[in-house]
Amino acid sequence: MSTDESAPTLRDRLREAKPPHPDVPALDPGAAPDDPRELVVEWLVDAVEAGVSQPQAMTLATVDADGAPESRVVLLKDVDSAFWFASSSLSPKGRQIEAEPRVALSFFWSERGRQIRVGGRAVAGPREVSESDFTSRHPASRAGAIALPQSSVIDDPEEARRALDAARARIDENPDFAPDDWTAYRVEPESVEFWQATSGRDQVRLRYDRDGDGWTRASLWP
Ligand SMILES: Cc1cc2nc3c(=O)[nH]c(=O)nc-3n(C[C@H](O)[C@H](O)[C@H](O)COP(=O)(O)O)c2cc1C
Repeated sequence: MSTDESAPTLRDRLREAKPPHPDVPALDPGAAPDDPRELVVEWLVDAVEAGVSQPQAMTLATVDADGAPESRVVLLKDVDSAFWFASSSLSPKGRQIEAEPRVALSFFWSERGRQIRVGGRAVAGPREVSESDFTSRHPASRAGAIALPQSSVIDDPEEARRALDAARARIDENPDFAPDDWTAYRVEPESVEFWQATSGRDQVRLRYDRDGDGWTRASLWP
């Protein structure tokens, strides 16, 4: 916070921030597939091909036992009938999902003027998927994941360093090791909304809601 009154305020600076890319793709709701997951995959592939940095980074929102929301970024691993991500079941998010599996996911790709929002239920996938997810991670990430519980407070940095070294030695000795709490979660979608900025200043929104084995669709006013 600046005390210099002639300096631009944060509000000024935010107004000056680079606007969205003017040349973005279009979303034609009439040409959209019946199943929103097909369009999610199409948009993900487009983001990868367009060079978007970490397009698989998504915000995962959960609620705690008091109903207070929490969100954080996790990496999307795959999309089939569900959206996959991986984390520790003993982390705050893991415990929150256990008590209340309803979660929300969102993606934002500024370079493509696109947002996707997903509402659904997170459930643990098969054990072998969790294990193969864990063993495919970089050894340093694996060591970090088993050294101390995720989101635990670091009281003593030296002790944490020793725990990390011991974990790294354990991983090097047994590269197939996967801890019980490492979990590949699948989020079964109940709703999926696509938001597309247009080259003007408009937006197009298309929402899908699960309806039995199929989906209903609606265009939303931006
Ligand atoms: C780009 C990015 C990717 C991340 N990917 C993951 C992930 O795939 N799994 C994970 O557990 N945490 C991931 N994190 C860390 C989480 O955002 C979070 O800090 C951590 O999981 C603890 O969350 P919790 O205390 O709510 O359980 C990522 C963070 C960023 C910024």
